Amino acid sequence: MARKRAATKPTAKRAPARAAARRPSSLLDTRIVYCGDCLDQLAKLPDGCVDLIYIDPPFNSNRNYEVFWGETKEKRAFEDRHASTQAYIDYMRPRCVELARVLKKTGSFYYHCDWHASHYVKVMLDQIMGENNFQNEIVWKRSTAHSDARQGSKHYGRLHDVLLFYTGGSRVFTWNHIYTPLDPAYVQSHYRRMDEHGRRFMWDNLTGPGGAAKGNPYYEVLGVRNYWRYSRERMEQLIKEGKVAIPPKGRTPRLKRYLDESKGLPLQSVWDDLPPINSQAKESLGYPTQKPLALLERIINASSNRNDIVLDAFCGCGTALVAAQNLDRQWIGIDISPTACRVMAKRLRDVCKLREDEDLWRAGRGFVVRDLPWTEEKLRQMPPFEFENWAVIALGGIPNKTQVGDMGIDGRIFPVAAAPKRRGADTGELEFMDHWYPIQVKQKDKVGRPDIDAFEAVMTREDRTKGFFVSFDYTDGALREIDAFFRKSGKAIIALTVHEILEEEIARKLA
Ligand SMILES: C[S@@+](CC[C@H](N)C(=O)[O-])C[C@H]1O[C@@H](n2cnc3c(N)ncnc32)[C@H](O)[C@@H]1O
Repeated sequence: MARKRAATKPTAKRAPARAAARRPSSLLDTRIVYCGDCLDQLAKLPDGCVDLIYIDPPFNSNRNYEVFWGETKEKRAFEDRHASTQAYIDYMRPRCVELARVLKKTGSFYYHCDWHASHYVKVMLDQIMGENNFQNEIVWKRSTAHSDARQGSKHYGRLHDVLLFYTGGSRVFTWNHIYTPLDPAYVQSHYRRMDEHGRRFMWDNLTGPGGAAKGNPYYEVLGVRNYWRYSRERMEQLIKEGKVAIPPKGRTPRLKRYLDESKGLPLQSVWDDLPPINSQAKESLGYPTQKPLALLERIINASSNRNDIVLDAFCGCGTALVAAQNLDRQWIGIDISPTACRVMAKRLRDVCKLREDEDLWRAGRGFVVRDLPWTEEKLRQMPPFEFENWAVIALGGIPNKTQVGDMGIDGRIFPVAAAPKRRGADTGELEFMDHWYPIQVKQKDKVGRPDIDAFEAVMTREDRTKGFFVSFDYTDGALREIDAFFRKSGKAIIALTVHEILEEEIARKLA
């Protein structure tokens, strides 16, 4: 049974609001997403500049990837390099070496993976981070019911992910205690006594473990001479507070540990209280590899303080960045996929209400995305599915997540004017979902009449009054066909070029 979620005790003092927006170091830009291979992007960062690193790199166990990013550059690169676990480790090793370089000595590093390679990753990280800097293997129960252990399969259900937690080398590293609520059964069995004021307590040991060898002080308490776990002064204070007494059936003084003073149970390494994101969850963006915000918030709370710098070098749809922003940390994100970078930029705008704006960012607010391959030349070379995603998102539309079975539609625009309005309670549908315009994208130098004919068929079939076409250019025949279609049917096809989108000349055409 899943336990109640742990409460975080924020031990760091709250910094003034302005401090959270401050640039933490003149050497380092934060609130920035870099598009590119983290191996190249990390090379731009100085040594020892980051307080907390979380990474969740892809492994080809995740077949959902194919649905997630489709024919992306990321996926193709991934297929080539992850043919074997050794190839995966060989790929990750130089990236982890770079990550270890940019981590502060007082910092923490979390590597999120699963059973496929966690044991190889551990060996690799022991070599890179130092075996002595390994702190925990955290088991996150990411799934409730399991489809993996079906009838007929001869193994146990694989329910959990593994997070390997290392620190940067210093004995002193950032650590904020997190506590989980006490189990009611534990409270019943341990806090059985009640004092004269009706407060529940349990008797706890006061003797110093290891005696003199461990440096425990030796003195007399309530007539008993022994090695004690507290200094004489602390003991006197506890006695004054009425917390030290000899239990009715005992001979040695013991400590009264009160239930109402308990912070809970310090968080252990098995996390079964953070459910995975279900498709109906408010935070869900529909990507199967998206991790829950609560998981990232826990890690960030435990291993960083306000205004510290959090880095996610494989940041997907930006869960770590959103969590960091919510918790007043500085952050840096890196992802190789331009689509992922756009998705997370939208999320930061929508969820964190951060503005993506160069001037604002320079003034210490807002954020920026760097190194997106958005030039006509680069867009021409981009894998087709990435190109489609780019075009649809640039128009403010929602891309299709699959390539096959799209029925000639690469994305949909839901116009702002179609405000959400409930239809009859009987249908339970949202009326505005009926108001959408199809988007068709072709990564072609010149779209011809046959492409337009095909799109006209889509518009007629879907009974749409307006549709958008994106390409590098159009033949005269294609443009004449668009006019003729409008005169005949009253349906408008808006032909946009990549150049117009890049120059942001599209606003008037989208109106
Ligand atoms: C499992 S997803 C991360 C999901 C993320 N934790 C979240 O909650 O959204 C892995 C991400 O790593 C990115 N990626 C793969 N190889 C990369 C590389 N060499 N450098 C940077 N990002 C990479 C992929 O594009 C993908 O978005």
